[in-house]
Amino acid sequence: MDLLQAAREVRKNAYAPYSNFKVGAAIRAASGNVYTGVNVENVAYPEGTCAEAGAIAAMIAAGDSVIREVAVIADSPTPVPCCGGCRQKLAEFGDPDVVVRMGTLGGDVLSLTLSEILPGRFDAGHMEAQ
Ligand code: THU
Repeated sequence: MDLLQAAREVRKNAYAPYSNFKVGAAIRAASGNVYTGVNVENVAYPEGTCAEAGAIAAMIAAGDSVIREVAVIADSPTPVPCCGGCRQKLAEFGDPDVVVRMGTLGGDVLSLTLSEILPGRFDAGHMEAQ
C-alpha cells in the first residue's frame, strides 16, 4: 500500500472545522501494518490533536510500537511539515533514519528522515545520571 495514498484517503475524515486545514497521516509499522490518523480539533483549541498523534495512537492500540515509515499530507502550497511536537512524538517510536514523506494534494512530496526534521532529539540517554 502506498503510504501517501493512505494518508490522502484518511485525510477526508479529518475534523477541522476551526482551521479548515485537514491533515492525514499514515504510519507503516515494523509488522508491515499501516495505521492512519487525522487531526481532530476542539472548540477549546488547545485540546485539538494532530493527524500524526492519531496514527501513533492507532498503532499503539493495535500492538505495534516500531515505526518504519511515515507519510503526512494536507492541502498546502508546499509539502506540509510535521509540527515540532509531532516530530518528538514520532521520534519516540522511530529510528533517526526513518523516512517521513510530506505531501501536498497537488502531488509535491518532500522526503526527509526523522533525524533531519528533529536534529538533536531528546531521548532516554539524556536522563542517565552522571
Ligand atoms: N496539524 C496536524 O495535524 N499535523 C501537523 O503536523 C501540523 C498541524 C493540524 C493541527 C490543526 O488541526 C491544523 O493542522 C492547523 O494547525
